[in-house]
Amino acid sequence: MQNHTLRDGTSIPPLGLGTYPLSNAESEVAVSEAIVRGYRLIDTAVNYGNEVGVGKGVLRSGVDRQEIFVQSKLPGRDHGHDSAFRSLEGTLKRMGLDYLDAYLIHWPNPSQGLYLETWKALIQMQEQGLVRTIGVSNFLPEHIDLLVKETGVTPTINQIELHPYSQKREWASYNRQKAILTQCWSPLGRKTRLLKDPSLAEIAQNIGRTPAQVILRWEVQKAHLPLPKSAHTRRMEENLDVFSWELTQEQMSTIDDLEAGLGRGFDPATHEEM
Ligand code: A2P
Repeated sequence: MQNHTLRDGTSIPPLGLGTYPLSNAESEVAVSEAIVRGYRLIDTAVNYGNEVGVGKGVLRSGVDRQEIFVQSKLPGRDHGHDSAFRSLEGTLKRMGLDYLDAYLIHWPNPSQGLYLETWKALIQMQEQGLVRTIGVSNFLPEHIDLLVKETGVTPTINQIELHPYSQKREWASYNRQKAILTQCWSPLGRKTRLLKDPSLAEIAQNIGRTPAQVILRWEVQKAHLPLPKSAHTRRMEENLDVFSWELTQEQMSTIDDLEAGLGRGFDPATHEEM
């Protein structure tokens, strides 16, 4: 498992545990079980309502805090300079941590018109050592272009919905051109039938892997960072075991052909999440 180096030099593990929609109690168990099994990146958000459990899980794992990459996301209702600082304070308090490894703006919420001001606050948070790296989630190229034009600081991460049924090729290619790491939410295509796709089942059977592993390996080989959620330890182990083998170019192309425009498909230009 080789870490990625983000554009600001921060090192980040190549795969992490997603925690939506785990409750606090479920997260505490899942996060500690995942860390014990080798996970080193945990993803949460204020709006998942489980930061307390995630923080307890990190502690309960017994692994040094410095060895774990913890990231959370700032919700729409906390956009704005002072609100962003208050929001981070709440996150750190709930998690029982004194810094985050990555802090992301969850959605641009363009109708509020506050994401630029919020981004300026994140830049200060990083300068103050409250967060090690700063990024965004669900930001379209036009939103990121504005941040860069106005502040000169490019987000290191853009977390978007990405899986074989919804590949976001242009969006991911924009991220790559700007040296922004694409993280995948719903990497296993939750709420679609991706895990039951016959082409994936065939590849999986041919190489003695599972469909989930084939999907995650396709994402890893595209240099994306998947954040699969599972509350089951066997699946956690399965999902992490995608670094000691490869898909062939032909298998990669077969999966490329699965693009179907299926998924949650929220358009960040209009989708509002508070
Ligand atoms: P569970 O927690 O019961 O394992 P996402 O794409 O948002 O990460 O969601 C993944 C979904 O697929 C979750 O509902 C998770 O449920 C399930 N899942 C996670 N890993 C696997 C796996 N290896 N095989 C089958 N289902 C999985």
